[in-house]
Amino acid sequence: MMSPFTVAIDGPAAAGKGTISKAVAAHFDLAHLDTGLLYRAVGARMLQGEDPIAAAESLMAADLENPDLRTAAVAQSASKVAVIPEVRAALLDFQRAFARRSGGAVLDGRDIGTVICPQAEVKLFVTASPVVRAQRRFAELEERGFDTDFDTVLADVKSRDDRDMTRADAPLRPAEDAVTIDTSELSIGEAVAQAIAAVTARCD
Ligand code: DC
Repeated sequence: MMSPFTVAIDGPAAAGKGTISKAVAAHFDLAHLDTGLLYRAVGARMLQGEDPIAAAESLMAADLENPDLRTAAVAQSASKVAVIPEVRAALLDFQRAFARRSGGAVLDGRDIGTVICPQAEVKLFVTASPVVRAQRRFAELEERGFDTDFDTVLADVKSRDDRDMTRADAPLRPAEDAVTIDTSELSIGEAVAQAIAAVTARCD
């Protein structure tokens, strides 16, 4: 594959972006960056009492190893720090450099196709209904032994959607030239196949 080659994958929480991104990266032998982890790492440091802007400006690789990054509390905190323009600005250069690295890259997040890499060769917008996304997240949390209930998870998904879509700086929305994949009625295999087909179509 020619380089640089960027696949931008955006969409709301628990729509299947992570699974699809990893599968696309493996299929085309591209590097992968889950940009949500950067915001989660800043959110985790804010929960520990740090100023989020200072945390974003001094983020280190070790911050991404924090085992708590996948908790619901950190997810909400990530969505809150993601509203702050200075936090977004501090994380911009790292993401842009990753996107254009030689060998190509897949980045998944909320603003990859719109702000981080508007020149991406392929843009996907991966979505699903809030109820389906909450069902998936609930099943995942139960499997990992977290004590929670469906209504709490659904409320969590909706409040994050609302914050991510209505913020002034880099709100979640599909890029004009994005291919939308609605995974509500798709198996993982079907969703991955659609994503690979969309990337393949842009390689020809
Ligand atoms: O993808 P995720 O659930 O790990 O993301 C956590 C939060 O980080 C999400 O609610 C909004 C924010 N985020 C963002 O604003 N921009 C990105 N590119 C990725 C994540």
